[in-house]
Amino acid sequence: MTDHPDPQPPAHGRVHLVGAGPGAADLLTLRALRLLQQADAVVYDRLVGPEILELVPAHAEKVFVGKMRDRHVLSQAEINRLLIALARTGKRVVRLKGGDPFIFGRGGEELEALALAGIPFEVVPGVTAALGCAAHAGVPLTHRDHAQTLVFVTGHTKDGEVELDWPTLVRPGQTIVVYMGARAVASLCARLIGHGLDPATPAALIENGTCQHQRTIAGTLATLPELVPDHHLLGPALIIIGQVVGLRARLAWLTELAEGPALAASEAE
Ligand SMILES: C[S@@+](CC[C@H](N)C(=O)[O-])C[C@H]1O[C@@H](n2cnc3c(N)ncnc32)[C@H](O)[C@@H]1O
Repeated sequence: MTDHPDPQPPAHGRVHLVGAGPGAADLLTLRALRLLQQADAVVYDRLVGPEILELVPAHAEKVFVGKMRDRHVLSQAEINRLLIALARTGKRVVRLKGGDPFIFGRGGEELEALALAGIPFEVVPGVTAALGCAAHAGVPLTHRDHAQTLVFVTGHTKDGEVELDWPTLVRPGQTIVVYMGARAVASLCARLIGHGLDPATPAALIENGTCQHQRTIAGTLATLPELVPDHHLLGPALIIIGQVVGLRARLAWLTELAEGPALAASEAE
């Protein structure tokens, strides 16, 4: 016995930072599935659907930590503390995030906190939304004839404005994928046109990609803002811009459920 025992018990637990993929449960990796089945606790976000949560064993603790724009159930700092606390009780913790944890998922921030606390961790990649949406919408993100460069950007706004490196984005021969850009679609398209991208450049918004209610609204940089009335968007949505979007006319293979006037308008194009 020492007079001053260490207030923290030794860390026996481990955190697995796992990508859940874009939505469809069968796009989980086998490794993700195995870890979910062995988990003592699963800490998950809003983008992780019920089909995937059904794979978590009944005895495992499930903790929803939210993350909806402007409405977080727990702050990032609280999530970090929760992961550390769960691991310190010796649990196998799965931190489950939509898509891939390192693509606009704050996975790096969570790992930094774990590293600082001395908690062992592992990372399991997931199918990011760009790949899932593109595949299910019939849009090859690269193509020898149309796109040699692929960029992923966030359309998250600061004071209502999207701030991106516009001169880089309007270079020819590239595909731009915008995460979290649905609310800013009008300003995004206007800024790209203003910086010299052809208004006739094909562009599409894909909502609920890979899920049962996927819908694709396709147009051009000039027309997309009118085709996407934002009150009709209920699920997560991604925007793809570039000549490759035009290939969808021949390559779209999925029959999407017709939903609402926005879809009708876009499909009429
Ligand atoms: C906070 S980011 C998380 C991205 C995630 N880590 C990934 O790799 O896909 C959330 C954004 O991802 C996109 N997203 C995620 N799942 C999607 C889906 N099934 N369909 C369309 N967009 C999706 C949307 O742009 C959404 O606003």
